[in-house]
Amino acid sequence: MSDRQTWPFYNPPLVPPIVQTSVFQFASIAQLQAVADGETPGHIYTRWGNPNTDLVQNALADLEGAQQGWVFGTGMAAITAAMLSLCRPGDHIVAVGTLYGGTHMLFKEQLSQFGVETTFVTQDITAIQSALQPNTKVLFGETISNPKMELLDLEPLARLANENDLFFLVDNTFASPTLCRPLEWGVHGVMHSTTKYLNGHGDAMGGALVGEAAWIENVRAWALQLGALLDPFAAWLLQRSLQTLPLRMAAHSSNALRVADFLEAHPKVQTVYYPALTQPQLAAKYLPDGSSGMISFVVKGDPDSVVQGFRQIVLAPSLADTATTVSHPVSTSHRALTETERQQQGVPYEMIRLSVGIEPVETITADLAAGLDCL
Ligand SMILES: Cc1ncc(COP(=O)(O)O)c(C=O)c1O
Repeated sequence: MSDRQTWPFYNPPLVPPIVQTSVFQFASIAQLQAVADGETPGHIYTRWGNPNTDLVQNALADLEGAQQGWVFGTGMAAITAAMLSLCRPGDHIVAVGTLYGGTHMLFKEQLSQFGVETTFVTQDITAIQSALQPNTKVLFGETISNPKMELLDLEPLARLANENDLFFLVDNTFASPTLCRPLEWGVHGVMHSTTKYLNGHGDAMGGALVGEAAWIENVRAWALQLGALLDPFAAWLLQRSLQTLPLRMAAHSSNALRVADFLEAHPKVQTVYYPALTQPQLAAKYLPDGSSGMISFVVKGDPDSVVQGFRQIVLAPSLADTATTVSHPVSTSHRALTETERQQQGVPYEMIRLSVGIEPVETITADLAAGLDCL
């Protein structure tokens, strides 16, 4: 290779470049072997790791206070890899509280095909204790659950997990490490859909797992075969977004608290789910800097009339972007659940899930009022 084909990097750029390559080059077979054997640092093939994914997985591990991390193309890839790393045929999972519908279906429909069964229980500690079996390996829950915004009481659950030799895995997507760092409460592993607050701009999918180095090495072995690594460009976008995460989470949380108060006082609203209002003691303990931007509320009438009455707020079945959006759990995230499961989980047709953005809060409440006036 001529000198003209080497990188013209005489001094480093301020912003890391996007290393959009599928493969890396070597000067010799000896050098390739040294990298493959781990004797020299380096990258070989992007499915096995890339400078952009290295950078962002280290940043995420630091944010969560973890030894190591691994990033995935989506949150579902992360949770799938986590379960493949933790469970073997004949094992059992206890899943606590309401869960994102995709996770619920993974446990119920796919993992069961490999002989891994799940018991779904409420947050009641006695119910959780009685669900444990000799073959239970994993305790799973969402820090703030989707869609009922129930906060997990992490500390006693971590104690229970340790007493029973379980791996306690938590989906921290709705809280983000700015508001809650589950590992500090004794949780063993943390999962994220980085598609949500961590990326935060609605423009890139992603997932992550962080925890002890030995577990992440196991996860990595599965991730390499699944081929589920985050794309370098999405990793770069995520890295950029992390710089504003604390600012965004503060704005999402303070807006959401005002919006939750507004909804609770509104005559057309039956119930509001927001940790600072519904579980104030737990929220003070686990979310002292804010309860995040996610609210669910049940309206007294047809939720479609409300959604169609909004002028700015968009119906878009994701969450955690800078603009306020709404979703309808029964039609989207919890669509695959049976009617009985939805009733058990308390997810009625009239429930609207609101992702409060960072716009001036008065514009959000004015638009909510306009929608609710349509009932
Ligand atoms: C709490 C939670 N976990 C996991 C996921 C799955 O993430 P992804 O869509 O990035 O695969 C979602 C998606 O909405 C979610 O809300």
